[in-house]
Amino acid sequence: MTMLSFAIETARRAGALLLDGLARRRTMELKSAYEVVTEIDRDSEALIVAAIRRTFPDHAILAEEGGRVERESPFLWIIDPLDGTNNYAHGFPFFSISIALMENDTLLLGVVFDPLRNELFSAERGAGAWCNEQRLRVSETPTLASSLVSTGFPYDYATTADNNTRQFTRLQARTQGVRRAGSAALDLAYVAAGRLDAHWELRLKPWDTAAGALLVLEAGGRLSDWRGAPWNPWNDRLVASNGRIHDELIAALAE
Ligand code: IPD
Ligand code: CA
Ligand code: CA
Repeated sequence: MTMLSFAIETARRAGALLLDGLARRRTMELKSAYEVVTEIDRDSEALIVAAIRRTFPDHAILAEEGGRVERESPFLWIIDPLDGTNNYAHGFPFFSISIALMENDTLLLGVVFDPLRNELFSAERGAGAWCNEQRLRVSETPTLASSLVSTGFPYDYATTADNNTRQFTRLQARTQGVRRAGSAALDLAYVAAGRLDAHWELRLKPWDTAAGALLVLEAGGRLSDWRGAPWNPWNDRLVASNGRIHDELIAALAE
């Protein structure tokens, strides 16, 4: 089994668990004042972490709900077992599972799975990005004014002034619309698929972005931080776009 087919199979198994949990009643807990977690986040993470430990016992793991497994290994799996927890807990149908693999500083593969639509987004470095059997390509939208973009807001929105509100208002006025759908991993997959022309956000974690960012790159898009400098998964301010509107978007964020 290749590492990509392992990631795909594991994401599909976690997706089945998420769908099963959606049908049952969910217990919502608060991680912090506004940050929600359900028992399904933990179950999904346990499933994914156990699969990695069985199949690749030497690999290190970084997973959102505390599953950091340290190993002396160049390989690091980066997991968000449920991206869009808030949506999930409320029954809003936009959430995903995100699994990425890095070798040292290089993103090797990324999988984002939307179990409700059965859309499995995958990318392997140098081999393109796919949604199920279909090859992905970013959009050709040439200008910010003709674009549909997305963003998100951090959980500490209410208690910090640096919370993306000014940028949101500005971009809402200069584009055909800004969506805040609530799963950064899936938002990035939609940029790769050409359904959105760009996504920007701040205070993201590696598990929100690693897989989706590789999807965007392999679909011909561009990634940077908010200043246009090179981005890596530990950089918490991401701009991902079709490339064509990237500089305009960076300039608008900087105003
Ligand atoms: C969140 C989602 C959301 C983004 C937040 C993330 P979670 O992840 O990706 O879209 O705006 O910044 O924390 O908590 O649902 O895994
Ligand atoms: Ca997340
Ligand atoms: Ca999560």
